[in-house]
Amino acid sequence: MEILTTVSATRRFIAAHKQQGKTVGLVPTMGYLHQGHLSLVEGARKDNDVVVVSIFVNPTQFGPQEDLDRYPRDMEKDRNSCHQAGVDAIFMPSAAEMYQPGFDTWVQVGSVTETLCGASRPGHFRGVATVVTKLFNIVQPHRAYFGLKDFQQAVVIKKMVQDLNMPVEIVALPTVREEDGLAVSSRNEYLTPKERAQARVLYRALRAGKELILAGECQAQAIRKAMEDEINSVPAAKIDYVSVCDPTTLAEVDAIAPATLLALAVKIGDTRLIDNMLVEI
Ligand code: PAF
Repeated sequence: MEILTTVSATRRFIAAHKQQGKTVGLVPTMGYLHQGHLSLVEGARKDNDVVVVSIFVNPTQFGPQEDLDRYPRDMEKDRNSCHQAGVDAIFMPSAAEMYQPGFDTWVQVGSVTETLCGASRPGHFRGVATVVTKLFNIVQPHRAYFGLKDFQQAVVIKKMVQDLNMPVEIVALPTVREEDGLAVSSRNEYLTPKERAQARVLYRALRAGKELILAGECQAQAIRKAMEDEINSVPAAKIDYVSVCDPTTLAEVDAIAPATLLALAVKIGDTRLIDNMLVEI
């Protein structure tokens, strides 16, 4: 397994494989790899000859009051996980390699970045779209893999690829969950044992919403209220947003449609967690 830290070494690595007619799959990550990331690697391994995992805690997608400095890192463990999963190369540039002095070009995707996490985290998706564009330009993958826990991120990346004619296929794979339903996330690391137990309320709220829809409730406001009541039953849980929206536009809906996205962001103590569920009737 190659460890690539510069853009030029990565370009050479990719060119050598493409010359042999090989296909390349990219799994963009911020490291601290867990089962969710590894399911993306597995998907990439099945579809492509060469798998590259990028590990880069991208500073431009964090707000000034957010957790950039304390974002968990464990390079040694990540290296071993990638090696065991059959990854061909890790691209792990420094911030200076990715953002040269004077860097001042941004990718701004439109209305799908304005709701949900985009509303609570101004500038977040501009940072994500910009770094993912850079990663696509550096690695030039045939396919790139994203987890549906970050449903909005997958929608934003698909829209960007479509609007800007980027020659890459976006593959979005299902959320991996712990046994009790909590979506696997690097940020679960921040939770104390007590908070970890309280965090189960996110999945409970989504299930409550889904069950109401399947029971025939068609007013989105009733679904929102049921999810909010479930979250508010845990005093330590603070709602950032509870959304019942269209899975393509991410705009709030009034009535349940054949496909509806239930999405939420909740703070448990100091940790902001997100989750979602697509409900089809
Ligand atoms: O999902 C993530 O880990 C990040 O947002 C990504 C896609 C690697 C961009 O920094």
